[in-house]
Amino acid sequence: MQYSQKVLDHFMKPHNIGKLENADAIATEGSPACGDQVSIYLKVNPETMVIEDIKFQSYGCASNIATASIITDLAKGKTLKEAKEITWKEAAEALDGLPPVKMHCSVLAVDTLRKAITSYELKNNLIEAESFNKDSIVAELGKIIYPKVGEDIITLKMVKYVGFQDGIALIDIDIPKFDKYRDNVAEEIREHLGHFPEIKEIKITM
Ligand code: FES
Repeated sequence: MQYSQKVLDHFMKPHNIGKLENADAIATEGSPACGDQVSIYLKVNPETMVIEDIKFQSYGCASNIATASIITDLAKGKTLKEAKEITWKEAAEALDGLPPVKMHCSVLAVDTLRKAITSYELKNNLIEAESFNKDSIVAELGKIIYPKVGEDIITLKMVKYVGFQDGIALIDIDIPKFDKYRDNVAEEIREHLGHFPEIKEIKITM
């Protein structure tokens, strides 16, 4: 696999690695695509809402380590609001790109950072917990990368329909019959949506 020099540098000598004692917020997320995991620890200034310190622990591949390393660099010194706006594409670009099949590693890093920020905000009553609806499903599908091109299935307009009623999530996906990633995409949808207690059943048509 062809990695950029920056990915290799962050993999060999990761920045901000380790555990943050007395962290104000922690999030651990796993990637349904591969089972890898990452944890992010935050120390936040309660007056300015600036992320004063951030560390990560990785239980995954080289790009998992590199993307977590770059995301902690990008988030350090930013306010929670600014850090929440960092996208997985920005993280991948900051590493001079990632192979398409490794783009989900960047999604995982950004998702974990956002979860850590949300956890801080909820704990400190800065936001209210969002209610679950169809948009929550669409947002989650936007984290699924079609490995052939390294782009998410919402941006690629592969999701033709999303419905949510009586605990049943209905998803219609446009993907060729003989596409080698077809099963992979379906499995990822099931794993991503399977984490929501509000969803009792997932029906996918392709
Ligand atoms: Fe899954 Fe990198 S995080 S292969």
